[in-house]
Amino acid sequence: MYQAQPLPGAYYGPAVPPKHQRKSRGCFCCLLSTFFKILIGLVILLGVLALVLWLVLRPVEVKAYVRTASLTQFNLSTVGGNDNFRYNLTAVGRGSIGYNLSTVIDIRNPNKRIGLYYDSIEAIAYYEGERFAWKALPAFYQGHKNTTTLYPAFSGQSTIDMSISEVQDFELHRQAGTFDVTLHLRSRIRFKLGSSFKTSRTTMKIKCNMALPYGKSFSGTKCDVDW
Ligand SMILES: *[C@@H]1O[C@H](CO)[C@@H](O)[C@H](O)[C@H]1NC(C)=O
Ligand SMILES: *[C@@H]1O[C@H](CO)[C@@H](O)[C@H](O)[C@H]1NC(C)=O
Ligand SMILES: *[C@@H]1O[C@H](CO)[C@@H](O)[C@H](O)[C@H]1NC(C)=O
Ligand SMILES: *[C@@H]1O[C@H](CO)[C@@H](O)[C@H](O)[C@H]1NC(C)=O
Repeated sequence: MYQAQPLPGAYYGPAVPPKHQRKSRGCFCCLLSTFFKILIGLVILLGVLALVLWLVLRPVEVKAYVRTASLTQFNLSTVGGNDNFRYNLTAVGRGSIGYNLSTVIDIRNPNKRIGLYYDSIEAIAYYEGERFAWKALPAFYQGHKNTTTLYPAFSGQSTIDMSISEVQDFELHRQAGTFDVTLHLRSRIRFKLGSSFKTSRTTMKIKCNMALPYGKSFSGTKCDVDW
């Protein structure tokens, strides 16, 4: 009886280690599955966060328009290598462009819950892909459903690269009385969500293509807005 009792105990004994092993294996599995649960939870959480952010930011469709613009001076003269221009059709020479351009741009934030911080904003004017004028505009905050009017104006003289065909093109445009000028507005933006949450900065690009009648005022064109 006394010997018989330890026997099942001794029998039971060796059975314990496997149990222990099973237990520790179970613990390891448990840890692993907890780890994977946390991982899956995190992935789902990140997905939901991304979806919420997308849903919140998706409605951000800032609209921009040229209300009016006027080009009161736009003349070109070739610099230096005029002989190049005359004798070599593929040569790129230097042109000097004199300009006086003023624009009135409306930027609309149609969102009900999102404000926009325009932390920096620069206006750049291009003619035939050549940048001829640049200006920094003051930073501003744009509230919900608000429209901000900007007045980028440029006047002065700058040198640009031009080929003979572009010089000829300029002459044709001058005769027709219309110049294709593109205005770019490049801004570093933060979104304000609710009353205090602010996102990090992103770049907003507004591009306005204008066929400007020389000396006359021009109105109404929609600009492209890109993020
Ligand atoms: C024309 O100009 C280009 C670029 O400046 C040069 O490579 C080429 O040799 C010139 N051609 C002639 C005929 O001068
Ligand atoms: C453009 O015209 C203005 C006035 O007519 C003149 O002062 C200026 O030098 C001209 N600029 C160029 C680049 O031809
Ligand atoms: C540019 O044109 C405006 C009128 O549109 C005029 O008031 C301004 O004096 C001009 N600026 C220069 C530098 O010619
Ligand atoms: C737009 O913003 C300006 C300047 O912050 C403010 O004076 C104006 O009342 C706002 N307009 C609307 C419709 O919220």
